[in-house]
Amino acid sequence: MLLNMAIFISHNVEQTIQLGIDWAKEAKGGMIFGLIGELGCGKTQIVKGLAKGLGINQQITSPTFAIVNEYKTDNLWFVHIDLYRLSCVEDIHNIGLDEFLNDKAIVAIEWAEKWFGLLDKNSQLPNGLKYRQAILTAINESERKIEYEDFGN
Ligand SMILES: Nc1ncnc2c1ncn2[C@@H]1O[C@H](COP(=O)(O)OP(=O)(O)O)[C@@H](O)[C@H]1O
Ligand SMILES: [Mg+2]
Repeated sequence: MLLNMAIFISHNVEQTIQLGIDWAKEAKGGMIFGLIGELGCGKTQIVKGLAKGLGINQQITSPTFAIVNEYKTDNLWFVHIDLYRLSCVEDIHNIGLDEFLNDKAIVAIEWAEKWFGLLDKNSQLPNGLKYRQAILTAINESERKIEYEDFGN
């Protein structure tokens, strides 16, 4: 069951980044943004927007080779995870990514379906965490369809 579904058509990179900025306004510790879609669909651009909206001034680079990039300030903990190179959920657990699922960190995860599958309202996340799933599709060179939903709990 899909709840609170929204469809956003982005016409350029700036609009995709702006969506991330808008999401950041409601972000707080314990929120997980699961980003799903093929290479080049704009997942990292959304993360750039999230970081910008959270007031992080550092350049956001794809953590594809590092898997995790963390941005910490006095009152903020933003975690950018990219599961591209991980093949199974056991790998995810083995390298210790579960520790980021806590009520202090705001977490953005590229290729989130490798971890959570395609979540629905009844799926299990650790208590108190809030998950927003976004599915991105490239329509053409410059346009992206971004379907997202919010699971309150
Ligand atoms: N509307 C758009 N939204 C996001 N990215 C776009 C858009 N149009 C073109 N692009 C390009 O698509 C690519 C998206 O790259 P990236 O965000 O790294 O994708 P992913 O992280 O999903 O692999 C970038 O080269 C970006 O310039
Ligand atoms: Mg990426």
